[in-house]
Amino acid sequence: MLDNRPTLPPEIARRRTFAIISHPDAGKTTLTEKFLLYGGAIQMAGQVRAKGEARRTRSDFMQMEKDRGISVSASAMSFDYGKYRFNLVDTPGHSDFSEDTYRTLTAVDAAIMVIDGAKGVESQTRKLFEVCRLRDLPILTFCNKMDRESRDTFEIIDEIQEMLAIDVTPASWPIGTGRDFLGCYDMLHNRLELMDRADRNKVAESIKINGLDDPKLAQHVPADLLEKLLEEVEMARELLPPLDPQALAEGTLTPIWFGSAINSFGVKELMDGIAEYGPEPQPQSAEPRQISPEETKVSGFVFKVQANMDPKHRDRVAFLRLASGHFQRGMKLTHVRTRKPMAVSSPVLFLASDRELAEEAWAGDIIGIPNHGQLRIGDTLTEGEALKVTGIPSFAPELLQNCRAGDPLKAKHLDKALMQFAEEGAAKVFKPQIGAGFIVGVVGQLQFEVLASRIELEYGLPVRFEPSQFTSARWVSGPRDAVEKFANANKQHMGTDNDGDLVYLTRLQWDIDRVERDYPEVKLTATKEMM
Ligand code: G4P
Repeated sequence: MLDNRPTLPPEIARRRTFAIISHPDAGKTTLTEKFLLYGGAIQMAGQVRAKGEARRTRSDFMQMEKDRGISVSASAMSFDYGKYRFNLVDTPGHSDFSEDTYRTLTAVDAAIMVIDGAKGVESQTRKLFEVCRLRDLPILTFCNKMDRESRDTFEIIDEIQEMLAIDVTPASWPIGTGRDFLGCYDMLHNRLELMDRADRNKVAESIKINGLDDPKLAQHVPADLLEKLLEEVEMARELLPPLDPQALAEGTLTPIWFGSAINSFGVKELMDGIAEYGPEPQPQSAEPRQISPEETKVSGFVFKVQANMDPKHRDRVAFLRLASGHFQRGMKLTHVRTRKPMAVSSPVLFLASDRELAEEAWAGDIIGIPNHGQLRIGDTLTEGEALKVTGIPSFAPELLQNCRAGDPLKAKHLDKALMQFAEEGAAKVFKPQIGAGFIVGVVGQLQFEVLASRIELEYGLPVRFEPSQFTSARWVSGPRDAVEKFANANKQHMGTDNDGDLVYLTRLQWDIDRVERDYPEVKLTATKEMM
């Protein structure tokens, strides 16, 4: 990534687009809040949390929107930090892994991994990390809650190295733990950072130190802690790799900062790290050629669609990651899938303090485009060239259920509601060739509940989810004759997805094995590129 890359125009080079990955409760919300505080986007800690709670009930959330609380659904937040522009893209908070999460991570150039110093690498962190790994995404690590009793520093680092198979380099080193936690030694800048326990919103005092033998250290660190610090830092420098920007960019090494988000400690150092080492906007894979951020022509792709942000107008906002160029409001772009021109007259820039009309945006930025359903996940917009961004997959759902309208007279509305959620990417909707109704597929059980409550709330339609005889679905491809023969002989298994593509509904792995054996020309796949 670093090698042979041309120098980017300064407006693009100053952009840092990233997401935070963590296990619930590790401190993502608190850290986000501190980011916004130092980015000047909010005046007071507490605002993000208020919003987080409001989000749990959608009606409250709408109210918050009206009151122009903090940015719209916090899907993407932009703020300035020094000479940098940070774009923080939110990964969905629910604990079930969803495609949404995966796709969010296609829109960023780096991820911040937050772990709890007492709990280490937890299940959700691990899953999200694996997704980052699929894209070799650079990762910066923040070990949070150091003000509490936490694990031994080497133990934490070892766990990350072993469980996630990534090299770790300490950017800072904690001094003391729990009640004795004093602060950190900044290993990159030879500074001593002392935590202020009296004021949670006060940024740590920083003391310039001339190396570890500087007598100034003893003035601030009690002898026993100092001795331990010197010993550990010496060991760390011997045993752990140094910060190699190339390895970081390739996703094989992660620097780790230790801190306490709630005490505003270690957060600025992490932000400085993102500014200094977090990658600039990166090239985007596309067909028939890769897109480079410095290209003067504008291009971008939709990675998320959010519907019903305003219940009165069934509007949608498509979230577009700009892959190249300098976008200006009112520009006419080409919607590559339909080859139709599209005037982007009221794009939204998600400035954390408010939702604002975007006058301009650069490669790396995220803009919201209000539309009436033309824009779908995976769509590419360009200034005319027929480029198609790749690498935004759709996964075969792992859980299938039949969905029925509670009121049969309203079955038509169910069709519409389900199609909308399918387009948002919240679920897969299959229409079986035989029989009525729909089969809805999701990746995590919780999504059924979310869907049922949203359909009721947004369409006034009570629905029932019932067990289905099928457990998964596979997309079907191959020579036309072979596919036709296969589909005719297996009608009770066939269906179409919400794009009209043919799927094979399966009960057991055995079904798939049988097809592979009996129809060698037919290909069944568990993922499909979003078209
Ligand atoms: P999440 O978004 O990753 O789920 O985590 P969140 O920031 O909501 O933090 C989870 C809990 O951990 C919160 O406590 C929060 O205050 C606490 N926390 C975050 N950072 C730190 C830290 O550096 N040190 C300590 N000791 N605690 C931290 P809560 O009790 O669930 O909520 P609240 O009552 O504090 O709002």
